[in-house]
Amino acid sequence: MTRSCLLLLVHCILFIFTSSTTTAIATITIPLSPSITKHPSSDPYEILNTLAISSISRAHHLKTKTITKTHKNNSSSASSLLVKTPLSSHSYGDYTVSLSFGTPPQTIPFIFDTGSSLVWFPCTSRYLCSGCFFTIVDPTEIPTFIPKLSSTSKLIDCKNPKCSWITGPEVDFHCQNTQTCPPYIIRYGSGSTAGILLSEALHFPHKTVPDFLVGCSIASNRQPAGIAGFGRSSESLPAQMGLKKFSYCLLSRRFDDTPVSSNLILDTGSGTGDTKTQGVSYTPFHKNPAGSNAAFGEYYYVSLRKITVGNKHVKIPYKYLVPGSDGNGGTIVDSGSTITFLERPIFEAVTQEFIKQMGNYSRAADVEELTGLKPCFNISGQKSMSVPELTLQFKGGAKMVLPHQNYFEFIFDKDVICLMVITDNGVGPLLSVGPAIILGNFQQQNFYVEFDLANKRFGFAKQKCK
Ligand SMILES: *[C@@H]1O[C@H](CO)[C@@H](O)[C@H](O)[C@H]1NC(C)=O
Ligand SMILES: *[C@@H]1O[C@H](CO)[C@@H](O)[C@H](O)[C@H]1NC(C)=O
Ligand SMILES: *[C@@H]1O[C@H](CO)[C@@H](O)[C@H](O)[C@H]1NC(C)=O
Ligand SMILES: *[C@@H]1O[C@H](CO)[C@@H](O)[C@H](O)[C@H]1NC(C)=O
Repeated sequence: MTRSCLLLLVHCILFIFTSSTTTAIATITIPLSPSITKHPSSDPYEILNTLAISSISRAHHLKTKTITKTHKNNSSSASSLLVKTPLSSHSYGDYTVSLSFGTPPQTIPFIFDTGSSLVWFPCTSRYLCSGCFFTIVDPTEIPTFIPKLSSTSKLIDCKNPKCSWITGPEVDFHCQNTQTCPPYIIRYGSGSTAGILLSEALHFPHKTVPDFLVGCSIASNRQPAGIAGFGRSSESLPAQMGLKKFSYCLLSRRFDDTPVSSNLILDTGSGTGDTKTQGVSYTPFHKNPAGSNAAFGEYYYVSLRKITVGNKHVKIPYKYLVPGSDGNGGTIVDSGSTITFLERPIFEAVTQEFIKQMGNYSRAADVEELTGLKPCFNISGQKSMSVPELTLQFKGGAKMVLPHQNYFEFIFDKDVICLMVITDNGVGPLLSVGPAIILGNFQQQNFYVEFDLANKRFGFAKQKCK
């Protein structure tokens, strides 16, 4: 402890001495890899269908997320249970990072998620994951953190201000029968996790973050891995570490389940300049106008202004592009969603434009049925193929011209391509609450992506990640 403090002091002194001549940038680089769990099926239609369904259920969850707490009344003895509902994560279609917690360090894989904020790991030797059959990983072999083996594990006390990050302002109410911060329950689109909050040391190769707030989950449903929340609330990893920015380049999904990875870079630098990274286009981040306490406060909103298919500007009603005073509408960037979600009217406009411009290819209705994606085209026998360009234009002029592979999935040996965007599944009323557009990780492949927190802006540049 004293030793690392001393080291830190040395770093500070070094920084003071060097900062006048060079801009010292302190960065931490950690590998980022696609999926830790294999899809149990090798049928390409089934895999795509799983991706589509999980992306829809996640979108559903992100959109309807509300923070539900136990009712505040006097007789409720179950008052020490908190219910918070961030978003869903799925074992397939996500990217993972490994983080080391505890003394001595225990290294555990986490799903990298910019759509939620708490960092939690499967915890104790008794960790129970029900409904984890859908992964190839044997649920009893899920890597877990063992607090008993760490000398720095501490329970979070009710008096610790960090407790209220999870309980909200009603901390006194939730703490009336307990001294330690009450357990959390997080519900997901499909699944949930429950546990207690710990203070732990978080280790990186050249830096240790003491007293990091982390969730120790004892039981989960359909959650084979922990989640590293990179959202905008106080408990997120970037907020706790005071990061200036973080950036990554998502490897193409064709590297799924192979041992390659790209990097997630955490910038802990103390420079406050607003230097832009060369070659990177930026657009500002916005807060949801419904306020930072609202459920949508932890999302990274960007201002999408225009979608073009080929040369055609697709008409999108303004109410979807900009969040209203009710908090609905707008675009968020989410690393934990796979396929980009478009509110149904936007989805219809975009897909109709693709169908119109690709009239020379025959539709593969059977494949659309099997995968849940639309439109799919049969390109069998085509000598060459041309697909319209898909471009997202943001406030400030930043243009994201997507490579074909980022919106058309080619199903090998079937000669079929499918457009990789989704909407709600069409049953029931329009789900027009929450973000209207969720920019998923499929669309971010082979882009350098920067979350410049200090300057509140989102940056991107096309880049081969491998
Ligand atoms: C607590 O409050 C909720 C909501 O007001 C109510 O439904 C419930 O019956 C109350 N419980 C008790 C035990 O009073
Ligand atoms: C709880 O009880 C106190 C006193 O017994 C009362 O003043 C208060 O209004 C009650 N709160 C709720 C939410 O019922
Ligand atoms: C469709 O086919 C027609 C006639 O073969 C051709 O002139 C046209 O360029 C094609 N359009 C596209 C988008 O490939
Ligand atoms: C695509 O079209 C070819 C030729 O018309 C046909 O043989 C094949 O079965 C079709 N593939 C699918 C997946 O529909």
